[in-house]
Amino acid sequence: MATEENNNSEMIVTPWEVKGKIDYERLIKEFGTQPLTAQLLSRVEKQTDKLHLQLERKIFFSHRDLDTVLDLYDKGTKFVLYTGRGPSGPVHIGHLVPWMFTLHLQQKFKTRLYFQITDDEKYLVGDDRNLKETERWSYENALDLIALGFKPDDTFIIYDTKDIDLFYDITLEVAKRITYSTARSTFGFQDSTNIGWVYWPAIQAAPCFIHKKLTGENVPALIPAAIDQDPYWRVTRDVAQKLGYYKPAQIHCRFLPGLGAGGKMSASMPETSIFTIDMPDVVKKKIWNAFTGGKGTAAEQRKDGADPGICSIFQYYFYLFEEDLKELAERERKCRGGEMLCGECKKDIVEKLNRFLENHRERREKAKDTLEEYHIKRR
Ligand code: TYM
Repeated sequence: MATEENNNSEMIVTPWEVKGKIDYERLIKEFGTQPLTAQLLSRVEKQTDKLHLQLERKIFFSHRDLDTVLDLYDKGTKFVLYTGRGPSGPVHIGHLVPWMFTLHLQQKFKTRLYFQITDDEKYLVGDDRNLKETERWSYENALDLIALGFKPDDTFIIYDTKDIDLFYDITLEVAKRITYSTARSTFGFQDSTNIGWVYWPAIQAAPCFIHKKLTGENVPALIPAAIDQDPYWRVTRDVAQKLGYYKPAQIHCRFLPGLGAGGKMSASMPETSIFTIDMPDVVKKKIWNAFTGGKGTAAEQRKDGADPGICSIFQYYFYLFEEDLKELAERERKCRGGEMLCGECKKDIVEKLNRFLENHRERREKAKDTLEEYHIKRR
């Protein structure tokens, strides 16, 4: 089943920009990560009873040191999970992809999660955001995380500007060992880059090591995230052992595409993104305008079929909204054969999305009562 975006412009994948047709095989080579092999997947399956949909469908496709983390786990050394969010605006359903998988890992491996909310990053990197705004979005975005079902006992949310005193010393240890030359070549800094941004990668690195400081326990961190965050881990891994920590391990996912013709779902393109706070009529309108693999007329499509491989809607079934592989294959067959037209497929996904979002919104509301229990400084 094709899952690639359809876009011919040059591929750019950085923590701040994802553009063009994404070639995931090429990213594995260029970033120097490892593919998730069948052998590794079967080791994960042994620990988790059944492979998660996102592993089965290769939505998570690459890693660094997952094998090392599993070796240690087999010998009795646990790991912690670490992931995060840059609160630049509302959460879209692409963000939920790695967070849902993180929840699955947390439940299966019974591990702690450190979740960093980088209001400082979004202030430093955006031209037009002030700190009050990023603080507000930190609060809003934390509700989305909690709504997915994380429990406060083993989930620790870090709000950078509030909690920096807990890990400022770790950022210093890291920053001292990364040269400007390495940072510039890894992140593409320019003469015009503000110096807050230049220091900032040390702040995203620090939670990889915070567990030791808080508990005295030295265990590796495993980071589930889309592959755009990988540059941070490259520089962090280079310094980890010099500082007496394990190298942080990663497991990387693909990008849920936007509703246009190619490119990832991105908050900077609201018309092609579904936000968790979108109301049913907004969802309907966005889906109705989405790019599909359909033909110019219904008659043509009935005759020649459509192409789910380039269809943005099909990706939503593939990533999140059709858990049953047989049903998914059936939808693909009907689409290719011209039996099911785009209107029907869109109608189904609007229903599924709105049902999901309605539940999510209810859980988000409830999360307001418990939010403080998740704060890393709650005790
Ligand atoms: P942010 O807010 O850009 O993204 C949050 C998480 O969502 C992933 N992501 C996606 N996954 C699937 N499909 C998409 N279309 C999509 N768009 C974004 C991102 O990879 C990320 O995992 N600097 C970070 C915040 C951060 C962080 C971390 C992220 C701090 N520490 C540790 C991951 C791990 C940021 O701005 O993420």
